[in-house]
Amino acid sequence: MKKPERHVFICGSFRGNGESRGVCEKKDGHSLLAYLEGELSDRGMDGYMVSSCGCLKACGEGPILVRYPEGQWYGHLNEGRIDAILDAWSDDDDAVQLQIS
Ligand code: FES
Repeated sequence: MKKPERHVFICGSFRGNGESRGVCEKKDGHSLLAYLEGELSDRGMDGYMVSSCGCLKACGEGPILVRYPEGQWYGHLNEGRIDAILDAWSDDDDAVQLQIS
């Protein structure tokens, strides 16, 4: 396996027992995972790995994604915001205005 240059985690709202229950799930976070993967592929943005994860404990700002190694957190995701984030990343811009603190 080739290690990714960057790893993006998108909240899947998973709890300790494996159930997906939480704000990000209620706001359709799972479909955003597929959308993000598709957009990265369509844009030829190689070097990214995308994974779903458990609750990131920022539920009030969900759905959430985090990009590493930068350690950047983005919230209130929808397809339009993902497009804006990927547009910025393509230009080596961190889309600071879309990040949460
Ligand atoms: S359910 Fe996504 S941050 Fe908590």
